[in-house]
Amino acid sequence: MIRIILTALTLAVTMMGAANAQSDLVKRGDYLVNTIMTCGNCHTPKGPPAAIAGKEFSGGLSWDEPPFKVTAPNITSDKETGLGNWTDADIKKALRTGTRPNGVQLATVMPTDFYGVISENDMNAIVAYLRTLKPIANAVPAPIYKMPQVHRAYPGSEKPYTEAMMSDPVKKGFYLATIGHCMECHTPFGTRGRDFAGSLGKGGAEFPGPWGKSISRNITSSKTAGLGDWTDAEIKTAITQGKRKDGTPLKPPMGFPHYAKMTDADLSAVITYLRTVPAKE
Ligand code: HEC
Ligand code: HEC
Repeated sequence: MIRIILTALTLAVTMMGAANAQSDLVKRGDYLVNTIMTCGNCHTPKGPPAAIAGKEFSGGLSWDEPPFKVTAPNITSDKETGLGNWTDADIKKALRTGTRPNGVQLATVMPTDFYGVISENDMNAIVAYLRTLKPIANAVPAPIYKMPQVHRAYPGSEKPYTEAMMSDPVKKGFYLATIGHCMECHTPFGTRGRDFAGSLGKGGAEFPGPWGKSISRNITSSKTAGLGDWTDAEIKTAITQGKRKDGTPLKPPMGFPHYAKMTDADLSAVITYLRTVPAKE
C-alpha cells in the first residue's frame, strides 16, 4: 500500500517537474521571440494598437524587391493558415535552414541565415512558445520568387551554440546579436550580399518605409564613426528607447519596444560583444 502511494507520489512529482520544465521552456521562448528576436516586428500586422489587438503573429509586413515579393506569414497555431499542421521538426528546419516542409526556400528577409547558431534549448523554447499562440485564421498572399533563394549562414552561426559556450560574455553577446540579426541591418551590401567580411557593423544600409528613409548607423568600436566613445548606458538607451547619445530620436525598423523588454544582463552582453567589433570609419 505504502509502496503504491509512494509510486503515485513519485509519478506526480515527476509530472509536476515535467510541467515546470515545459513552462520554463515556454517562458524562455516568449522572452526570445518577443525581445531580441523581434519576430512580431515582421509577423504581426502593423497599425494602431487597437487594430492589431488579438491578431499578433497572424501575418505582417510585405517586401517587394528584385529577388522576391513576400509577406511574413501567419505563425500562430492555426491549422489552415498558420503552423498548426507543421511538426516541431518542420519548424526547427525552417528556422535553421530556411527550408519549408514542401522544400521551398524562404526569402532571406526571414533571417534564417542567422538562426543556425540557436542553441538546442533555445530552439525547443521557441517552438514550445509558438505552440501556445492561439490559432488565428489569416492567409497572407503566396510568395513570388523572381530568382532562386539562397541560404548563406552568417559567419560564426553555422553550428548551434551550447549553453557552456555562453558562459563567455563575448560569446554570449555574439550569440544574442546574431539571433537578433543586428549585423544584417548594420552592414552594407557588397558585391555578393552583405559585406560581413569587409564592413561588419559599418552601417549605411537603407530602410525605406512609412517613416521616410532610415539609414543604419555605424555600431563598430570606432571612436569617431561608431560607438567607441559611447558609454554602456548611452548604448542601452539607443537600443531600448530609440534615442541617440545627443537625444535625437531614431527611426524604425529597429525594434526598440521589443529590446526594451530585454534583461539588463543580456543588453550588457550585447554591448560587451559590440566593443570587440573592429573599428570601421
Ligand atoms: C525581418 C523580418 C522577419 C523576422 C524578424 C522574422 N521573420 Fe519569419 N518570415 C519573414 C518573412 C518575410 C517570411 C516569408 C518569406 C517567404 O515567403 O519566402 C517568414 C517566414 C517564416 C516562417 C515560414 C512560415 C511559412 O508559412 O512558410 C516561419 C515559421 C517564421 N518565419 C517564423 C519566424 C520566427 C519564429 C521568428 C522569430 C524567431 C521570425 N520568423 C522572425 C520575416 C521575418
Ligand atoms: C531591421 C534593421 C535593424 C536591426 C535588426 C537592428 N538595427 Fe540598429 N539601427 C537600424 C537603423 C536603420 C538605425 C538608424 C536609425 C536612424 O538613424 O533613425 C539603427 C540604429 C542603431 C543604434 C544607434 C546608433 C547611433 O549612432 O545612433 C544602435 C546602437 C543600434 N542600432 C544597435 C543595434 C543592435 C545592438 C541591434 C541588435 C540587437 C540592432 N541595432 C538591430 C536598423 C536595425
